[in-house]
Amino acid sequence: MKTISVLLLSTLASFVLVVSCKKESASAVARVPQLPDEVFKYDEISTGSNGFNPSGSFLIDNNMSTLGRVLFYETQLSRNNRVSCGSCHLQSAAFADVAKFSNGFENAKTLRNTPAIVNAGTQTSYFWDMRESNLSAMVTQPIGNHIEMGLDQPEYILAKLKKLPYYESLFTNAFGSAEITMDKVGAALSNFVASMASVQTKYDAVAMGQTAFTEEEQRGKDLFFMELPCSSCHGGENFSGWGSMTQNIGLEMDYEDNGEPGTDWMTGKDRDGWFKVPSLRNVALTGPYMHDGRFATLEEVIDFYNEGIQPHEQLSFMLREGWNGGGGIFTPFEGDFIPGVGDSSSVIQPLKLQLNSDEKRALIAFLKTLSDEKISSDVKFSDPFVAASN
Ligand code: HEC
Ligand code: HEC
Repeated sequence: MKTISVLLLSTLASFVLVVSCKKESASAVARVPQLPDEVFKYDEISTGSNGFNPSGSFLIDNNMSTLGRVLFYETQLSRNNRVSCGSCHLQSAAFADVAKFSNGFENAKTLRNTPAIVNAGTQTSYFWDMRESNLSAMVTQPIGNHIEMGLDQPEYILAKLKKLPYYESLFTNAFGSAEITMDKVGAALSNFVASMASVQTKYDAVAMGQTAFTEEEQRGKDLFFMELPCSSCHGGENFSGWGSMTQNIGLEMDYEDNGEPGTDWMTGKDRDGWFKVPSLRNVALTGPYMHDGRFATLEEVIDFYNEGIQPHEQLSFMLREGWNGGGGIFTPFEGDFIPGVGDSSSVIQPLKLQLNSDEKRALIAFLKTLSDEKISSDVKFSDPFVAASN
């Protein structure tokens, strides 16, 4: 009896100790945003080649993006006050993660690789399975996600934000009133995210006649647009197709993650392995690659396309031997019979690109011209929080 109560007492004592320590360290790491006297000019967005506007139909507002930046790096938007959007979407990696899967608020891993955020305002579908089409509604979902940030009750989120003194002026400047609502959080976050424009690239500069490709880059460009099927999917100014679309590229014979739900029109079976065609802008900065981060480098990606495509029965026609749609032309296959390749009963022959090592290097050199290096260092997209001891 005596030993038990001693044990109990000492357990209690250590519990109190732990709790008080925790409290102390929590207040020691309180963070406050340090913002410029004059708001950054998020609305000064350059235009890419062919007059491409990288913020799409989004009207970028400097005060809204300023608030959006603070919210993007706000760890109080997570259950344990440790995770922000910026924990997974790293500025140094063009807002992708360098890890295969990212750590959520309880260190559980995300189920998919964190994609880069690329000219988000011009896209029409978000997530690897394209399940969301409205950016302002989409950007608040990670907050409630049970792996990512874990705050699924809007009342609780709003109550937490209301306690933070710096939001009063930020919301007032952005919306004319200090009232905090989830709609405003979504509007500000999406404004900031849509202001992350990626057009200051060598590719755009060449297209606008300001500079020239090296011989190797030019060879890679010809391969990409003319000799290989790449631009049939990664086409348009975002290199992600004209509208958003999902495709099965034959990574596996049987996918662990099915991707976009629905029926495969050719086989009549449930879809397996259909994922969003990602933008290739900034791709040199955003590894590891694919929905599951399986490839660490661009070399591995090109080796896969060169000789690793699997004869999955739902493999895209654009990656089968015999498809002659040519580069740059996207043919909607739904319901169409494509002579030579449209017969589902025929043996599936994945494309073998048969690139030699010079050609592979050229293709990668071209992909590297799609990087907007400025996005990774531009202070207006950086974490504004500094540790404050209060
Ligand atoms: C724990 C890591 C993590 C956190 C935190 C996180 N994300 Fe993500 N984000 C992901 C993953 C993983 C995906 C892909 C999920 C999927 O496709 O199912 C994603 C997808 C996205 C996309 C879609 C990109 C596209 O082109 O399809 C956007 C935009 C985005 N997140 C913005 C945000 C914002 C804004 C926040 C903060 C409110 C946030 N994320 C917090 C990991 C994270
Ligand atoms: C049939 C459409 C299609 C064609 C053709 C195609 N891709 Fe892709 N690409 C995709 C899809 C879909 C993904 C994502 C697949 C996944 O994660 O399961 C992808 C992913 C990639 C990635 C990784 C991007 C990232 O952020 O993870 C790179 C790089 C890439 N493709 C380059 C190329 C190159 C180079 C070519 C030409 C040799 C090419 N692609 C041809 C559809 C296509």
